[in-house]
Amino acid sequence: MLELELDRDPRTGRRAAVESAIRDAIRSGRLRAGDVLPSTRALAADLGVSRNTVIAAFDQLLVEGYVESRVGRGTRVGHTLPDHLLHARARPSMHEAASPAPNAPSARAELLVAHARPKSSAKAPAIAFAPGVPALDLFPWRTWGRLVAIRGRALGPALAGYADSLGYRPLREAVARYVAVARGVTCTADQVVIVGGSQQGLDLVARVATDPDDSVWIEDPGYHGALGALVAAGLRVTGVPVDADGLSVAAGRMGAPPARLIYVTPSHQFPLGLTMSTPRRLELLAAAAEMRAWIVEDDYDSEFRYVSRPLTALQGLDRDGRVVYVGTFSKVMFPALRIGFVIAPPSLVPAIAAARQFAGTQQATLEQMVLADFISDGHFERHVRRMRSVYAERQHDLIDALRAECADLVDAAVAGSGMHLVGWLAPGVDDTDVSRRAAARGVDAIPLSAFAVGRGVGRPGVLLGYAHVDRPTMFAAARQLATAIRESMLHRSSRLRVERDGSRGFPA
Ligand SMILES: Cc1ncc(COP(=O)(O)O)c(C=O)c1O
Repeated sequence: MLELELDRDPRTGRRAAVESAIRDAIRSGRLRAGDVLPSTRALAADLGVSRNTVIAAFDQLLVEGYVESRVGRGTRVGHTLPDHLLHARARPSMHEAASPAPNAPSARAELLVAHARPKSSAKAPAIAFAPGVPALDLFPWRTWGRLVAIRGRALGPALAGYADSLGYRPLREAVARYVAVARGVTCTADQVVIVGGSQQGLDLVARVATDPDDSVWIEDPGYHGALGALVAAGLRVTGVPVDADGLSVAAGRMGAPPARLIYVTPSHQFPLGLTMSTPRRLELLAAAAEMRAWIVEDDYDSEFRYVSRPLTALQGLDRDGRVVYVGTFSKVMFPALRIGFVIAPPSLVPAIAAARQFAGTQQATLEQMVLADFISDGHFERHVRRMRSVYAERQHDLIDALRAECADLVDAAVAGSGMHLVGWLAPGVDDTDVSRRAAARGVDAIPLSAFAVGRGVGRPGVLLGYAHVDRPTMFAAARQLATAIRESMLHRSSRLRVERDGSRGFPA
């Protein structure tokens, strides 16, 4: 009698569970070539599933070549199974010691996995405060849908082939015009490469502007997405402290090996939110010139500046073609669009085009066309203007909510730009513990310590994104956050008491 163990997880589905149980039995050698399988009726009764389920599973195994079926001879294990399928998942056996060790991912893969972080630690859906999430409910979906329909109808053979790997030309032109006016970036459309969000831009630039083992600088604390891309490119990354003017060039010179590439967020430092001063920008450009380093300027949310015009992009001050400017539509449009752009010095453009060709990624022409229309018809500018005033108001709502619900627990100051604030916690509070407790209460409050590249900022805090949160939710979430902080502080002080008293067990 064949003993099969079914995976009873309802997500697996019964047919798939039967298939996989039989496959496992064949691969592990419990069923051998030519062995006759029980009849579908007997197996169905034995496993407690319907006969149709077993028939469907047999059909699939037949297609895959695991079993053969002849009229009058029943269903048997196939004779023509490729050897590598057999024993692939054999159970531990006496012969195991002789078998080669299973394949392991590379050391680099281990590093990547260690750097990968879930976007949110809260159980979905968190009510607040994921950073960098726009107010998706206020996006003009009807307009977007209308433009998609128009372009979708017109898409035919002429536009459906492999397209220009640098991006849809009218979109590249629209981006060049936009960044010139809005950000003081100096470029032509030939320097604009459309990519799958700034993350892909960072990955491509890291690979074409450096060689493995080169030394690179990143702000500390800094953006984990950039850190991951630099690690993925096999680079030696040093976190350089950030002070009130931005990345400390002096600290970099003293404490880090000379850089081949420097990653910065000058308009709105991620995660702290400060703006790099003009003297510091000039100092950084001079240091980069001395080291012959590239500067990657990640300008991810500068559209949302509430007090004055944004400072000109670092790229606009660069006279030597060292700054690579990376922008995204994730914040001003929506993240799932997966469209961003790289504005590269002309010498890097062919390399980026080649890297992209081999990475095999290219944005869908249809969405690039629709985005170009959305910009040229004026919807983009209107939406940004509207969101700017909504987000400015929401920032005030957040400050109000924190004052009302988290007084003495969270310190947050009004900021001139961005989509999140840092909520500073009292010294000694464990921000990771607070974040975990907040997540259990449905609130996403990423700890500042998670962005430490070296020493980090040395003070606990949480990131509080407000762009997508309305005022009542803001208050409800702030209340939960306050409870999480109080719990964490209480837990910590009782732990300290236990340690100090040297006693065991729970304190009274
Ligand atoms: C510093 C920084 N850069 C870039 C991005 C945007 O990434 P993407 O364009 O890949 O969505 C984010 C998003 O959270 C960010 O925080």
